[in-house]
Amino acid sequence: MAKPKVFVTRIIPDAGFDLVKAACEVDLWTDELPPPYEVLLERVRGVDGLLCLLTDRIDAQLMDTAGSQLKVISNHAVGFDNIDLPAATARSIPVGNTPGILTDATADFAFSLLVSAARRVVEGDRYVRAGQWKTWGPSILLGPDVTGATLGIIGYGRIGQALAKRASGFDMRILYYDPMVVDPAVPGTAVDLETLLRESDFVSLHTVLNEQTRHLINRDTLALMKPNAILVNTSRGPVVDGQALYEALQANKIFAAALDVTDPEPLPMDSPLLELDNLVIAPHIASASKPTRDKMSLMAAQNLLAGLDGKQLPNCVNPEIYSQPQ
Ligand code: GLV
Repeated sequence: MAKPKVFVTRIIPDAGFDLVKAACEVDLWTDELPPPYEVLLERVRGVDGLLCLLTDRIDAQLMDTAGSQLKVISNHAVGFDNIDLPAATARSIPVGNTPGILTDATADFAFSLLVSAARRVVEGDRYVRAGQWKTWGPSILLGPDVTGATLGIIGYGRIGQALAKRASGFDMRILYYDPMVVDPAVPGTAVDLETLLRESDFVSLHTVLNEQTRHLINRDTLALMKPNAILVNTSRGPVVDGQALYEALQANKIFAAALDVTDPEPLPMDSPLLELDNLVIAPHIASASKPTRDKMSLMAAQNLLAGLDGKQLPNCVNPEIYSQPQ
């Protein structure tokens, strides 16, 4: 029997890719940069499955261009805001993601960003390399304490709670804002958004991106934060209004920010944000531990193969398609 045809939109770790190669006829996009949308449209024509990344826009036009034989879309990410989910559901196409396995790596990274911004690790590195380190000084590169501070977590799902677990080792007081979470496994105090922003020394974002959360952090919400507060974002760039953040950091309305995600990505080299000393920035690498990326590729492959086989995806974000009348 002919193997199913799949398009894989970037080189992924062998852990998952070997499985895909063994079972499918694979068209692999090997460039470092993502395929442009027009190329995506061309390459998905006639495929049975698509293994894509968060950098690929997967919309209704693309699904229709692929054709009605398209059986599965497997995203190599836990977030799936790059995919038009209602369009996939309307076409009964299951969409897979990679939850759970990247929780620890992402929470580790969020906590390291938090500490780096507070204790000015990156600034310190620049200071030394620029030859500014003349002596030990009582007032050089001072920052706020992490231990004992209040951490406000927006989005108290798996990753938000994993961050709280780490923070509890630093005796931090945990506030969280998440209308969907009732009885979390990791203790914290549920508050409204305004209370969280007013009372927190650190605010860390762990929400999905949707129309309710786009620019949740904006001029008005930034104005509620303490002048010594630090904002950490490892969720999605557009949850923060970048211009408003720039203005708040530049005017020292908050102490610092640490971003693993930006809008757009990559951040253009002439972005004013890059001129700020009180910003720590990383290139969307919160889940980038080697074992985690291996597991993500494996889970993405397993979702893809299950979909091609007509089975329910092990991790499906639109499981309602399985109860839709065919
Ligand atoms: C990374 O941002 C992911 O959603 O997996």
